[in-house]
Amino acid sequence: MPRQLHDHWFKEAKREGWRSRAYYKLKAIDEKRRLIRAGDAVLDCGCAPGSWLQYAEAIVGDDGVVVGIDLQEIPPLPSGQVRRIVGDLREIEDDRILAVAEPRRIEAFDVMLSDMAPNTTGHRDTDHLRSLDLCNLVLDRGTTLLREGGHLVMKVFEGSGYPELVERTKAMFEVVRPMRPPASRNVSREMFIVGMKRKGGVKPGTNEPVAGGPPPVPDAWSN
Ligand SMILES: C[S@@+](CC[C@H](N)C(=O)[O-])C[C@H]1O[C@@H](n2cnc3c(N)ncnc32)[C@H](O)[C@@H]1O
Repeated sequence: MPRQLHDHWFKEAKREGWRSRAYYKLKAIDEKRRLIRAGDAVLDCGCAPGSWLQYAEAIVGDDGVVVGIDLQEIPPLPSGQVRRIVGDLREIEDDRILAVAEPRRIEAFDVMLSDMAPNTTGHRDTDHLRSLDLCNLVLDRGTTLLREGGHLVMKVFEGSGYPELVERTKAMFEVVRPMRPPASRNVSREMFIVGMKRKGGVKPGTNEPVAGGPPPVPDAWSN
């Protein structure tokens, strides 16, 4: 019998109407760090089947907008706050991603999420390297798609390149915290890197800081 049939979080998600057990990962992270707020514009990379969209849309409410991107079909959500783009994040230009938020006009998102995962091979190093590629893609795109002061949640499969990825994230955000929420299976090497308050003065398309000192850190971010 597949493991997920025995899984507590899988059963909970089914019972509560969430599209995936991943719902509880974002919920745990956001409840600790308070990243998403009412009225926010949220970009969800690798969003299918859509449980993070469900979580985010409830928090942003009627004044917010959530844009989800995935290689796979994304079943529509009943609320009008969610926009969907089917495609490869690598190939979708910023202008299209921003325009899909209309009628809300945004120059960048308040929060960027990535639960993107490569097709796993079962070979640890290969899966880790592919996951790193996706994370580096997210950081690259975040330099233009995430506003100064905005927040990031990004999944990675841990491995030898993990410390370097954390360092790269630290170059972009005032505060960086790794988190492994309870719904991440014990056997999984997945970790979530939470970047809070994107630094200002990072040249678009690069990680080169050009200005700005660290602002005060809220309590919810401190450990
Ligand atoms: C673990 S699932 C996401 C689950 C989602 N957070 C939820 O709550 O329903 C990972 C997704 O990342 C997507 N993905 C992987 N690489 C991608 C890419 N380059 N562009 C867009 N989506 C990608 C996959 O198609 C897959 O649906």
